[in-house]
Amino acid sequence: MKTRIDQILAKEKLNRLDIITLLSVKDTQESEKIFKKAYEIKKEYIGNKVYLRGLIEYTNKCEKNCLYCGIRAANKSVDRYVMDEKTVLDGARYAIENDYGSVVIQSGEICNDSYTDKIAELIYKIKQMGGQGLGITLSLGEQKPEVYQKWKDAGANRYLLRIESSNEELYYKIHPQNDKHNYQKRLEALQSLKDLGYQTGTGVMIGLPFQTIEDLANDLIFMKKFDIDMVGMGPYLEHDQTPLSKYDHLLLPQSQRFHLSLLMIAILRIMMKDINIAASTALQAIATNGREHGLMAGANIIMPNVSDLNYKPKYQLYNNKPGITENSDSFIENLKNKLNILGEEIGWGVAGNSRHFQSRQK
Ligand code: 5AD
Ligand code: SF4
Repeated sequence: MKTRIDQILAKEKLNRLDIITLLSVKDTQESEKIFKKAYEIKKEYIGNKVYLRGLIEYTNKCEKNCLYCGIRAANKSVDRYVMDEKTVLDGARYAIENDYGSVVIQSGEICNDSYTDKIAELIYKIKQMGGQGLGITLSLGEQKPEVYQKWKDAGANRYLLRIESSNEELYYKIHPQNDKHNYQKRLEALQSLKDLGYQTGTGVMIGLPFQTIEDLANDLIFMKKFDIDMVGMGPYLEHDQTPLSKYDHLLLPQSQRFHLSLLMIAILRIMMKDINIAASTALQAIATNGREHGLMAGANIIMPNVSDLNYKPKYQLYNNKPGITENSDSFIENLKNKLNILGEEIGWGVAGNSRHFQSRQK
């Protein structure tokens, strides 16, 4: 007999109630059906390939004070660093020489000219090293359109700016209420990235205090409506030195946040068949093989950290960030073996652009 879940999964288009019903699934057999459907769609539209992005965490300095984040400006116990140019280029070179096809530069949000110029210079040098085919993704927060343009001119082609939550009320519960943390401005920044021709990515945290299943359904609808090209989303994780930690008692157990995150990935894949979806590091923080579970639920991107090992422990957005002692070579060896078992392989040497973006351009 067909269950309610079977009926929803057979539909051409999901409505809000369908999404809520899918997100509410607890039964393992039923959720496996959702993951399986999403994985089949991923295979059909993207193939059995997983694309890599070599992640460089350029600096853990940040001008903002998001209430959930371990490296927020007000956290005085963070040992702040800025990588020198050689360290950044070494990381990029490692990714290029090992055929990753793409790099990501991520940092806290800093808006002064000397910083934004330095980033432009780094992008330019990395692009020169990697050639036209290299994908360069930025994850450097909200900036003025002129800055986004400058970075695009230097050679960046993708940008990841998470909306964190599409519910404006919830947004202000997890951010301070001031000009630096303004929901409308964030939306505008996301829109300007799209207007400037970036492959545009966003994402949310899953299992935040005060967040409901309806909020999460609306997040997915937001992504679909915004016609986003790429998504990076994962479970919200506790960090002791943050203001939001006073609500830790309201959180779902980590195992449920993990399960919800996989459902979010799978449902998004069903809704947006040809976008790039990352299996986030935060998944790995909760479960061994968390990332692989993400892939089996429809994700197709993995972002191995290629930063110098010394910096990894200083970029702690949440407690127990995984992989801070693992070097990149052994990470990839491990990943290859695991993918092999799953029937997936790494898309070596190609940028792995968002198919969705490519068809949007046509
Ligand atoms: N748990 C999970 N994700 C977090 N981020 C920041 N702090 C946390 C946390 N405590 C995510 C945000 C941000 C990205 C860089 O990291 O979504 O956009
Ligand atoms: Fe800064 Fe990003 Fe952390 Fe917010 S989430 S405090 S912008 S690093």
